[in-house]
Amino acid sequence: MLVDSFQRRITYLRLSVTDRCDLRCTYCMPEKMRFLPKAEVLTLEELHRLALAFIARGVRRIRLTGGEPLVRRDMLDLVRALGRQIGEGLDEVTLTTNGTQLAQNAEALREAGVRRVNVSLDTRDPVLFKQLTRRDMLDRVLEGIAAAKHAGLEVKLNTVGLKGRNEDELPDLIEWAHGQGHAITLIEAMPLGEVDEDRFDQFLSLETVRARLEKRWTLTPSGHRTGGPARYFDVAETGGRLGLITPLTQNFCEGCNRVRVTTTGQLYPCLGGGERVDLRAALRDGGGDAALQEAMDRAMAIKPQRHAFAIDAPGQAPAQPRHMSVTGG
Ligand code: GTP
Ligand code: 5AD
Ligand code: SF4
Repeated sequence: MLVDSFQRRITYLRLSVTDRCDLRCTYCMPEKMRFLPKAEVLTLEELHRLALAFIARGVRRIRLTGGEPLVRRDMLDLVRALGRQIGEGLDEVTLTTNGTQLAQNAEALREAGVRRVNVSLDTRDPVLFKQLTRRDMLDRVLEGIAAAKHAGLEVKLNTVGLKGRNEDELPDLIEWAHGQGHAITLIEAMPLGEVDEDRFDQFLSLETVRARLEKRWTLTPSGHRTGGPARYFDVAETGGRLGLITPLTQNFCEGCNRVRVTTTGQLYPCLGGGERVDLRAALRDGGGDAALQEAMDRAMAIKPQRHAFAIDAPGQAPAQPRHMSVTGG
């Protein structure tokens, strides 16, 4: 079992398979993002071995992230390998994707054992989509979402709330998602890595958004739990589920069940703070599984009580220099 020094059980691993991405969301990366040299990145075998080591220590759910996980060519092989662990200690394999390559991958993901995917979608307005992602790919994302549904995957949409950008569109986006049968989660922008804009200008409090939505709809706290940071509400008028992820305005770290591993094998016990532990060294230095297990124990000992995110003044440096695309959120 993996238990941290605050007695939280870690049963959920977010494993990043690439730091690369075919979009450039303005809150996530600068336009001229520098990606890691391929030689630094773990091989498929190493990723698999790592995942098995976590499963042996009680991890029951694995979410593959990026960057954009589907830009990695051998990604489906990893999904298939992990799919074979379902029922053998693992409950589910999921992924968080930007959707641009979902249309051609949805069936194969389903066959490999994936049952649900989280797809990022901040707007359905093509002009705004291009501004926010700096790429003209809205149609492909919408096709990807439709294909995932068609393949029998449960889709949850992720929407980062952005002041003055998609702020006014949020009710329409929620209504559309619910009409399509998808849950949707709104997320507060977090200060990770330098981007080209000031995060203070982008930040939208979801407590404010919730108050506005409550004037329009009846939101009832939902019994739905994923063990993740979202608080869920049922929306009576649309019949759908709405999640809110509020790292800045309402902390949820007390119930944390997760750790994340980057594509170079760095284990970050917390998204928003603290030290990392080098699992790649443990993998490659011939110490065998004992070295890996010892490194995982070290991470448990240093997992902080909570993140240290704050966005309270213009020009503030990010809480962490690394970008979200390095740890996959
Ligand atoms: P499930 O609960 O498994 O459905 O997934 P999720 O909502 O946790 O994962 P997803 O990849 O869809 O992430 C949604 C958002 O939550 C992203 O912006 C993540 O960065 C954020 N997030 C996920 N886990 C954490 C966490 O432990 N701390 C913080 N601050 N944010 C998180
Ligand atoms: N703050 C909040 N969410 C972010 N994401 C990427 N960068 C940030 C950030 N700085 C979101 C993406 C995706 C999820 C994995 O994280 O939009 O939905
Ligand atoms: Fe790519 Fe996701 Fe970052 Fe957008 S938020 S640039 S889709 S990794």
